[in-house]
Amino acid sequence: MSVAAKTQDFEPLIVAFCCNWCSYAGADLAGTGRMSYPANIRVIRVPCSSRVSPNFILRAFQRGADGVVVAGCHPGDCHYVSGNYHARRRFSMLRRFLEFVGIEAERLEVHWISASEGSRFAQVMQDITDKIRVLGPNRKLRDSR
Ligand code: FES
Repeated sequence: MSVAAKTQDFEPLIVAFCCNWCSYAGADLAGTGRMSYPANIRVIRVPCSSRVSPNFILRAFQRGADGVVVAGCHPGDCHYVSGNYHARRRFSMLRRFLEFVGIEAERLEVHWISASEGSRFAQVMQDITDKIRVLGPNRKLRDSR
């Protein structure tokens, strides 16, 4: 099979860490509102975006994720007051680290999605799926086991 054919067949696996209070509710709204988003997304509910350790993201890449999204409440709306500010800082550093070790930083995105933004959730998931499909599979960090 040619490289071009393999790329066309490529379906990315994307892990989305969604905070319980806003983004997960936004995902729920997308579902109940029958808004479609790609089946490539695996949603993991976390209490807050600040609960997502950089280790979770590196582990996701090692275990086969091609892209990772961290989604939380809009700045100023975090249920734990400042969790998303900590997350924002942490993930801007992590993106630089990813670049340093040779991984496209675009594979990691951080978004703020409120509970009433079901359509935004669906759009963000569609956009990252399209973007990762163009980038191709993550081969750098994937466990070779
Ligand atoms: Fe949603 Fe903190 S509770 S980002």
